This record gives sequence, structure tokens and C-alpha cells, in this order.
Amino acid sequence: MQLRLLKRTQQKDLKNMNLIKKLPENLINQIAAGEVIERPSSALKELLENSIDADASKIEVYITDGGKTLIEVVDNGKGMTFDDLKMCLERHATSKIGDGDLVNINSLGFRGEALPSIGSIADISIDSYNNFTNEAWKISVTNNTLNRIEPSIIRDGSKVAIIDLFSKVPARLKFLKTNGTETRHCREVIKHLAMSHPNITFSFNVDVKKIFNWEKSEEVNFSAIKKRLMQVMGNDFVESSVSVEETRANMSLAGMVGMPTLNRNTGREQYFFVNNRPVKDRNLIGALRGAYKGLMENNRFPVAVLFLDIIPSGVDINVHPAKAEVRFKDAGRVRSLIVTGVRTALENAGLNTASEISNQLLNKMHSNSEYINNISFNTNDNLEIDTLQILPSSRSTTNVNNEVGEKEKTYPLGSAIAQTHGTYIITETTDGIILVDQHAAHERIVLEKIRAGFLDNNLQKQILLLPEIVELSEEHFEVIVKSLDQLAKLGLEIEVFDKNTIVIREHPAILDKVNFFILINDIAEEIIQFGNEFILSERLDNICGNMACHSSVRAGRSLLTSEMNALLREMEVTPNSSQCNHGRPTFIKLSKKDIEKLFGRT
Ligand SMILES: Nc1ncnc2c1ncn2[C@@H]1O[C@H](COP(=O)(O)OP(=O)(O)O)[C@@H](O)[C@H]1O
Ligand SMILES: [Mg+2]
Repeated sequence: MQLRLLKRTQQKDLKNMNLIKKLPENLINQIAAGEVIERPSSALKELLENSIDADASKIEVYITDGGKTLIEVVDNGKGMTFDDLKMCLERHATSKIGDGDLVNINSLGFRGEALPSIGSIADISIDSYNNFTNEAWKISVTNNTLNRIEPSIIRDGSKVAIIDLFSKVPARLKFLKTNGTETRHCREVIKHLAMSHPNITFSFNVDVKKIFNWEKSEEVNFSAIKKRLMQVMGNDFVESSVSVEETRANMSLAGMVGMPTLNRNTGREQYFFVNNRPVKDRNLIGALRGAYKGLMENNRFPVAVLFLDIIPSGVDINVHPAKAEVRFKDAGRVRSLIVTGVRTALENAGLNTASEISNQLLNKMHSNSEYINNISFNTNDNLEIDTLQILPSSRSTTNVNNEVGEKEKTYPLGSAIAQTHGTYIITETTDGIILVDQHAAHERIVLEKIRAGFLDNNLQKQILLLPEIVELSEEHFEVIVKSLDQLAKLGLEIEVFDKNTIVIREHPAILDKVNFFILINDIAEEIIQFGNEFILSERLDNICGNMACHSSVRAGRSLLTSEMNALLREMEVTPNSSQCNHGRPTFIKLSKKDIEKLFGRT
């Protein structure tokens, strides 16, 4: 065997036996692109980061066909000179990193490979105007050929256009999803970057239609972030969230997290930033989940926007080609910061959570740590006032009724004597007192009514005087359209209105003040989770639960005594009414004997 090999080697030209060759430049770029550019939104992310790094205060995005045929980013940043333009398409050419310092990185980009990578898998053209030279130039790549630099008519910043992404690598084209889905990914990328850059105006245009224009704030503080979150996440999020602020030695956390009642079927609406850089990191996601432990069902996900600031040596951001993941030097401390910070914020918001010994311990252990100086935005004095405004407990008044209905006392749930914190009803029974969570109780009643109506085929429906129009993502639209008949049986009369848009004409009469946008999206997620074979009767509880959840008497609403008693009487005749559909109790009973024991009277 060995002899034979030897013979063959001798026969052949030794030169041909050397197998290792250097890859051609274009192939190197395509490989790099394979890591960084997964879909149109990842190319868009690179362009946006470049505009941000160029100190733009206004960034316009234009895409067509979900970004597959065109992604164009126009900024008013500092632009490039003729020589910069010549360099920017070269591999590992960057203006952003000094001599070999990978620790103190203040820019979003630093690898110098985005533009050459994109240029190897698409046509690209870059126009740029430079303030110092007062000149404008254009460079372009078409069909893998670098064209001569020519004068440009641009008069401000830069305009980068990517045309026919992946046309050079058709294998990748096959993995792209529908235009609607790719558009949604692009929108997500803008959302994520816009949150951490409230001093930049962002606009988004899809197939020539303007989708949004988020104006910048001039001030640099937490209220600017809050204003931006209002634009990006909507009022609902800001109103049902609490501000987070927690500091440890060399790291600090700030942001907003949704109250446990604001929960989602997926973790899509969890946004994390490390030193203002958007990341999707498992440690951070896990820590957030930990913070909500016991406050939310396991299959529900909190909504959160969290900014973690940490000294540069405490984190390595260069562990992932698209810089989406990071590595913490001390992941345990980061986790504890997040768990404590979020938990404290939720508890301060008046939520009824048992304080955990471990959290108290953590607080003690870190109470004497120093504050770090380089927090990227000031949490100013207004913060506290703002926080107070969104506390249900501070808004509501205690409602006391002195005339206890003697007759009502004999009912199992007794007679309402007071409402506290706009959330809990206190009742007196013949042999004790009861504390009722009005929201949880009402949720259960609504759920049971819809379910019973569906099963008996006599669900009371109500026609909407003004039919509600809801625009959905393509994915959600598809699943809802497939389920129209099933949803009609549940009292939701829905019709297709336009592309990705539905109109709701009727809803179950028991639902009141429904947020249809959230409801329909939740139902769509429910169906997606269950898979294609959506069988309503098997998911009845969850769908009814969604409906109940989005229309029930929210915590924070004051009730009249008569309304409270009506609720109690309803509970008594509703099956399963001692727990809500999230498995939490709807009321807690204390017998007179228990109270006596507590006071040491027996
Ligand atoms: N919109 C822009 N405005 C100004 N300069 C830009 C812009 N886009 C790219 N550049 C320049 O091109 C260089 C290369 O960009 P890129 O390939 O994304 O690498 P990196 O961002 O990692 O430096 C950047 O360092 C920057 O100097
Ligand atoms: Mg870059």
C-alpha cells in the first residue's frame, strides 16, 4: 500500500500535489457575506450602522420587494472623501478602529467587511458628499466589476443602494421568505436601532409608500428614550410598563419593562442593548425570564426594552460576525443586575409579588457598590414622577362602603365593603373576609361565557357600528384568513379588507372595549404555535382566554359598590371561578378564626 502511494507520488508533478491555495478575493468576500448577510434586513442593518457611525441625524430607508431588489439608505452624516470612497469597498478597510484596540470600541461597525461583502453578492452604489472637501463622488459595483469613481450630484451625507441582493448567489435567494416577511424583518432592524438612537430621525418607505417617520428628540435624556419608545412600541407599551434603573459597580441597567399583564406569545418584543448596541443574547433573555418568574405563565413572554451599560473590558462584542451576540466577563453579575433591577421596578409598581429572599440578599450584597460615570443617557429627576404616573396603585383611591348589605353577607363571596388600589375588592362574609382580584375574576367570567356560548351555539354577538380595520403582518394575515370560519363560530365576524388588512364586523357581546389589534395578533400567534392543523375546539380555552384577557376589567379601574357585588354574584355562578385562566387565584379567603390566630387571640 505504502509502496503504491510512493510510486504514484513520484509519477506526478510535485507542484500539483500542493493542495492549499489562497482563496480569490471575491470568494473570501462571499464567504464573509454568508456569515453577515443572511437576508435583506441584515444588509440594511449594516447600512444603518454605517449611517449612525457617520453621525447622521436623519436616516431614510427605502426598500422594494422586501429589500430583495432594492435597499437604499440616505443619510445626512459626515460623508466620505474621494479617497475614503475608493477604500470603503476594500476588505478590512475601516475608519473606525485605531491601532489594534478591540476593547474600547465606540462605533457600531469596526470589522470593515460589510460593504465589500455586500458588493460580492449584489450590485451596490455609494454616493457621498464630504463637508470638508465640498466634493461629491459616486462609486459602484455592477456584475462584480468595480466601476470608475465618477462625480455625484448628492449635496449632503451619503446614499447607499444595494440592488438585487443575492443575485450572484442564487442558492441564498431560495431561503428568502415572502416580501411581507422580509419587510417585517427590515422594520424590526430599524425599530431596534431607532430605540437606542432617539436623536436621529428615522423614516421607512416600502415600495414607494411611506410607512413611518419617527422624528428625533433634541434633548439627550430618558424622556427622549421614552418618546422614541412611544413611536416605536406604541402608547400601549409605555402606559403599561415601568421604568427600570439599577446600578452596580462598573455596570448599570435602564429601560422599560411591561407589567406582567402585558405579555406575548413570543419573545419577539424583547429588545436588549449592550453599550447602546442592539444584541440578541441568551444570557440577557434568560435573566429577563428569571425576573418574571412566578409572575407570568411559562409559555408567555414579557415585553421589554433594556439598556445595559458596562465598562468596555467587561464585555467582548467581537464574538459574532454580525455582532448580535456578546460575551460577558462576569455573566452572573449581569444576570443579577437584570433580575434585581426588573424585579424591583415591578414590585415598586405595586404588583402583588412575594419578595424573594434571594433578591433581598442580592440587594444587600451590592448596596455599597460604586456608580459608574459613563451611562449613555441621564435618568433625570422626571423619571420618578413618570414612574408614579403609571402605577395603578397610586392612581386609584380606596373606595369604602360603610353600609354592609346584611343580606349579601350570606352569599359565599359575601358583600363588597371596599375596593383598594383600584384592583382588589374586600368583602365581608358571615365568617370572615375575602380579597378578590377583580381583573382575574372578570377574566374568568368572560372566558366561561364565551366558551359556553360557543358550545351551546348561542353566543350573543354584537355588531360594531364602526367596523374595526386591522392591518397585520403577512404571516398573521395568512393564518387569520385561513381561520375565518372557525373564528366566526367564536363570534368574531372578520372579512378580508385589503392586502394584509382585515375588517372586524362583529364580536362576542360580552367583550367590552377590545383592543382588536392586540387580540387578533395574539390569536394569530396562538394558531401559528399550534401549527397548520388548527382545530378550534382543542384551542378553545386559549383563544377564549385571549379574548377575555383583552377586554376584562383591568386592574386599576374603580368600581361602584353595586358593580362589585354584581361581579361577586357572577363569580358564584361561574364554573372554575376560583382561578383565572393563567392559573392565579381570583380570591383569597381569611376566616374569622384565621384572623384571630394572626392576632394571637386564640
Ligand atoms: N453612510 C456612510 N457615511 C460615511 N462613511 C461611511 C458610510 N458607510 C460606510 N462608510 C465608510 O466606509 C467604511 C467601511 O464600511 P464597512 O464596510 O461597513 O465597515 P465598518 O463599518 O466596519 O468600518 C467605514 O469605516 C466608513 O468609513
Ligand atoms: Mg459598517
